[in-house]
Amino acid sequence: MQQTPPDSRREHWDTVYRTKDETAVSWYQEHPARSLALIRSVAKSPSSLIDIGGGASRLVDDLLAGVHGDLAVLDVSAAAIAKAQARLGASADGVTWIVADITAWQPQRHWDIWHDRAVFHFLTQTADQDAYIAALKKATRPGAHAIFSCFALDGPERCSGLPVQRYSASSLAARLGAGFGLLRDEAESHTTPAGGTQKFTYALFERRQDT
Ligand SMILES: C[S@@+](CC[C@H](N)C(=O)[O-])C[C@H]1O[C@@H](n2cnc3c(N)ncnc32)[C@H](O)[C@@H]1O
Repeated sequence: MQQTPPDSRREHWDTVYRTKDETAVSWYQEHPARSLALIRSVAKSPSSLIDIGGGASRLVDDLLAGVHGDLAVLDVSAAAIAKAQARLGASADGVTWIVADITAWQPQRHWDIWHDRAVFHFLTQTADQDAYIAALKKATRPGAHAIFSCFALDGPERCSGLPVQRYSASSLAARLGAGFGLLRDEAESHTTPAGGTQKFTYALFERRQDT
């Protein structure tokens, strides 16, 4: 199956971030409390963390205010990252910013914690999912943790005008494969800025020995 051309993804997301206020997009959270709680449940001091498709999310703000000193944010949209950097001001210098499509990215190091809220579910092609999982494996070692937040089986079928693949914790575990053991999962009803409800599946995985 073909991969989605990275250019069309970049153009889509740059347009979203250039034309919409970051606090008005459906996925906006002032404080990503569930992500933070899951991160804190596995974080050691110090732990390194990469937020995949972090966009203009405020997760990085809350992590900078806590114990995390080795932080990276990756996003396909330079416009999204510019928004986060402008908001953070001088604190942005303490973060590694990576503009890349996750399906084409070749990680050059390892992280202790991989976080993804509402990114993997946009990959509806098997080849794109496989490329994502290859990057995840390259960027983590056994013992690392991966936190995913995807639309639940009863969640929306589309987001930002794009189709999504919806997941339960077990279908996500099956897709990631035997290299990732499911430690915990939680359901969340996210209230959008417009007052709608979106059902999410959160899942915490531990990277296992390669099988
Ligand atoms: C729904 S938003 C979620 C943003 C953020 N994770 C949050 O929870 O606020 C999806 C994000 O994923 C980014 N994205 C989408 N596809 C991507 C890809 N293939 N590689 C990297 N980033 C991607 C978008 O630019 C956008 O910032």
